[in-house]
Amino acid sequence: AYVNGHYQDLRDASVNIEDRGYQFADGVYEVCEIRDGKIVDFARHMARLQRSLGELRIAMPMPLSALLIVLREVVRRNRVGYGIVYLQVTRGVARRDHGFPPAGVKPSLVVTARPLSFAKNQDTAAHGIKVITHPENRWPRVDIKSVALLPNVLAKQAAREQGAYEAWYVDADGYVTEGASSNAWIVTTEGRVVTRSAATGILAGITRAVLIEALAALQLRFEERPFTPQEAHDAAEAFVTASSQIVMPVVAIDGQPVGDGKPGKTTRRLREEFHRFSS
Ligand code: PDD
Repeated sequence: AYVNGHYQDLRDASVNIEDRGYQFADGVYEVCEIRDGKIVDFARHMARLQRSLGELRIAMPMPLSALLIVLREVVRRNRVGYGIVYLQVTRGVARRDHGFPPAGVKPSLVVTARPLSFAKNQDTAAHGIKVITHPENRWPRVDIKSVALLPNVLAKQAAREQGAYEAWYVDADGYVTEGASSNAWIVTTEGRVVTRSAATGILAGITRAVLIEALAALQLRFEERPFTPQEAHDAAEAFVTASSQIVMPVVAIDGQPVGDGKPGKTTRRLREEFHRFSS
């Protein structure tokens, strides 16, 4: 792990107990996919990191070029060919007080990297995942990739306890917003690929953005609009996107099969072709 200027064994890596990330969840994070030892879509992740930090008025902990070196070094030290790199920036260490700390307190930076099993991920994708629906109960600023994830933790746990992998939030108007840690999509019986606009209610996923570009290149019809759980039930296919799983087929929602209950062909194609469009 990298912690505030030092590379440490993950077991020994720790942060100050007065870190504002620990006391107030006053920080943001990014998760990038590692493929063939390389960080996928680094520039886009860094643009989103800078935006999240800007919204919270937290300074960048170091210039982007230096950050890239740190991320690469953590990936290298952990010998990650396939997996993820996690980066967290908090407002820093200060005596507990809700308002911002005095000028001069530096943001904290933590980076970890972890190999994932490509075979296991492929196997999950071959079978598809189940999702449950869950009332939207997060704060409205879900556009910020904040480490304040308690509602997401509870929704994910509710999914697990019902034998599902992901929870789809449903807003007060009855529309799906997104998953607890992914963006939500359907493919209609007419073959239109649908996901909600990033203007409200969701995190602007990097995988989502790259996939939208891929759809255009693959000449697949794309519709950016909200959909209801009922529409998802009636859809031909459904899937989720996130850096940690790219395109993951959804085969059941609240115990009801989606389409024929198997990963859909458009979904499979998008999963296979995705990395032609990532950078
Ligand atoms: N989650 N929406 C939410 C709420 C998320 O937490 C994530 C990612 C996404 C997808 O974003 P992207 O395609 O940029 O990964 C959407 C990460 C992977 C996580 O929390 O582990």
